[in-house]
Amino acid sequence: MVNETEIKEEIKRLTAKGLAGGCLARPLSDAAALTLRINRLKKEKKAVICAHVYQTPDIICGIGDFVGDSYKLADDSRKTDAEVIVFCGVNFMGETAKILNPGKKVYVPSKNAGCSLSESITAADVRALKAGHPGAPVVTYINTSAGVKAESDCIVTSANAEKILRKMYASHEKVIFIPDKLMGANLSFTLGKTPGRDMILWRGTCVVHEKFDARTIEIYRKRYPGLAALAHAECPSDIISAVDFMGGTGDMMRYIGNTNASAYLLVTECGFGEFARIKFPEKNFIAMCRLCPYMKSITLESVLDALENPRPELEITVPPKVAARAKTSIEKMFELAA
Ligand code: 13P
Ligand code: SF4
Repeated sequence: MVNETEIKEEIKRLTAKGLAGGCLARPLSDAAALTLRINRLKKEKKAVICAHVYQTPDIICGIGDFVGDSYKLADDSRKTDAEVIVFCGVNFMGETAKILNPGKKVYVPSKNAGCSLSESITAADVRALKAGHPGAPVVTYINTSAGVKAESDCIVTSANAEKILRKMYASHEKVIFIPDKLMGANLSFTLGKTPGRDMILWRGTCVVHEKFDARTIEIYRKRYPGLAALAHAECPSDIISAVDFMGGTGDMMRYIGNTNASAYLLVTECGFGEFARIKFPEKNFIAMCRLCPYMKSITLESVLDALENPRPELEITVPPKVAARAKTSIEKMFELAA
């Protein structure tokens, strides 16, 4: 258990990390009691925490050892010598970490951390697409199951999809890009390709990013001269044509760091805006955001529970044969993204 003095010290540590001033949905002392216990258990169990930027600030700043987008976290997971990885993100991220680290225990501290993109397509669907388009390489967004990755030639994330697709098109006229039809349409536009002919798409969408309304961007542009609008590449094309920058969360964070706009309008999941405010306290943000129900199924309490009581239903397992094939397509991404 933790005592009053320890909680006071932890409150100071969390405050120094930017977690004071109303960015938490609970008193800082309550968060501190939990982060203290989680960080102790991490040491005892030789565990690290990977935290995606859509997690809540108490997770990102209070207990995260690795923080970032899905590419960075996959890469970080390969570099740790911890015995246990607790993934504060969604299942496909935990699966990717497990595939890259078969000897480590990987836990996702929620049974509800799915993803609408990942759930939109099965391995059998990919086999049918390949049969319908023989010779076309399958380039697969990382937001997919291990079984789908196993049927793919190369995995991409929003941080490297454009670069890897350019390399694929250097030797192929047609590419199968799955499962995000909106990201696929955005990338085909950027690359000058025709969806359905040069780029075969699937029908998946992200439940968070598909629902933004482009009219709001124009309203805010009038209100804030000098505004920079940024959108995640999973947004529909009318949003992408209305913003100044499209990319993954890592690219969006770098764009904010490298520019000096009067304000930043962020068209993505809300956790990104909360973290951006902490990272860049001197900048102005308007979060035109939506919450991801899958990402937000993880809390400090559920992380503590997973560490105290690590049980099979929270552990990520991937059948070895599937994992071996999926690993090949993930490693292809690291090679082509380099
Ligand atoms: P990033 O890799 O850009 O962080 O995206 C992950 C995701 O799930 C976006 O919805
Ligand atoms: Fe999946 Fe969308 Fe949530 Fe990202 S924001 S995890 S793509 S549902």
